[in-house]
Amino acid sequence: MESIKAPRGVRDILPEESWKWAFVLDVARRTAEDFGYAEVHLPVFEHTELFSRGIGETTDVVEKEMYTFQDRAERSLTLRPEATASMVRSYLEHGMHRGVQPVKLWCAGPMFRYERPQKGRYRQFWQLDVEAIGASDPFVDVEIVALSLELYRRLGLSNLEVKINSVGCPECRPTYRKTLRSFLEPRLSELCDTCRGRFDRNPLRILDCKNPQCAAIAEQSPSVVESLCGECGTHFGLLQRGLEEIGASFSLDKRLVRGLDYYTKTAYEVLSGDLGSQNAVCGGGRYDNLAEAIGGPHVPGVGFASGIERIVLTMEQQGCFTGSAPHPAVFVVCPDEEARPEAFALLHLLRQSGVSADMDFTGKGMKAQLKVAAGKGALLACILGSEELRASRMAVKDLESGEQHLYAREEGVASIRSLLSNKGISRKDG
Ligand code: HAM
Repeated sequence: MESIKAPRGVRDILPEESWKWAFVLDVARRTAEDFGYAEVHLPVFEHTELFSRGIGETTDVVEKEMYTFQDRAERSLTLRPEATASMVRSYLEHGMHRGVQPVKLWCAGPMFRYERPQKGRYRQFWQLDVEAIGASDPFVDVEIVALSLELYRRLGLSNLEVKINSVGCPECRPTYRKTLRSFLEPRLSELCDTCRGRFDRNPLRILDCKNPQCAAIAEQSPSVVESLCGECGTHFGLLQRGLEEIGASFSLDKRLVRGLDYYTKTAYEVLSGDLGSQNAVCGGGRYDNLAEAIGGPHVPGVGFASGIERIVLTMEQQGCFTGSAPHPAVFVVCPDEEARPEAFALLHLLRQSGVSADMDFTGKGMKAQLKVAAGKGALLACILGSEELRASRMAVKDLESGEQHLYAREEGVASIRSLLSNKGISRKDG
């Protein structure tokens, strides 16, 4: 029988990579906290309606990409394809709209979309999601863009491009939709099948079609910015002014409309020059009508989400990781069965005193254990066999220099700690 493999489009994040994730998530946490955003943990599945109403019935995500299932009580549930709708649901459900505004939240976790897998695109992927809910001030939009850029700066990313646009609001978007339709109508036959289907239902999505012929037509299309109402125009102007003030470089992209229907006003993306076709490390924008769409009062909001896989891929490509996977500082080597209880007790004492330590559990000989110690990246090997036991001593070998010294057993942990601190390794905790 063939052994069972993981489903297509999902990935195991193994130890060689998981430390990089931990690093990215740690920097993300600190950056979010520095900007005043608090962490929340949200459910991985929600009522399907939250996404169909929140994200929009005619979006690719809702039409084709959701993992929807019925539970045993025959409720339709969906594995979250994104976190914004859940964030707003949670904000409303817990009465956060009655407190001080905006409410600034972040979360990180897996999202699920049935897309064609390729490099940087998976069916289960992680997002860092950051949302400021309850304020319409354009400087909150600036803060959101600034937070994402500050995160990438702290991670050491370069070769990034920030694109911004405004998608207007229910006041001015119908005018733009009309202008766009009149521009596209005579060119309908030149558009791809998908875009011809979008013409009636969601013509703005034609603007970000990847098909070269559609893209060439979209390039010629009238810009949404010219159709913005006074309020959206002012908002877009202040967003640009704010970004200029903080020294963020960005470009206007009239074809940037984003794939989710809840956007109003600001839309933005950060693209990496090192990712290939799935090059968006981050996407976001304002969603002033989302709360109403899911049954709440009118509550403005703005946020972004950044794909963790894509951040890690870009950082690898650009050589941003300087650390390494965690490794034990000390490896306890015990070549004799009779000394194992004492060796294990020493291992435990080291760990209790905050020294990362490990030992062999497979009955290897002395040489092989020392080899494993070096392979695991340990700095010191602490040898405790029958001979050392009888002499109430232990030998400590510096695996970098090869030097070895004997210590009295009762001084063991203290000696190891001082040897490690000479090497710049300090006690972790405890
Ligand atoms: P999105 O553009 O659909 O926006 O996704 C945001 C980011 O998630 C993308 O830029 C990309 O880095 C990552 N991503 C999306 N799909 C995949 C995938 N299949 N595999 C790997 N990474 C992926 C949203 O999800 C919005 N909720 C963003 C937002 C927050 N807008 C306002 N607040």
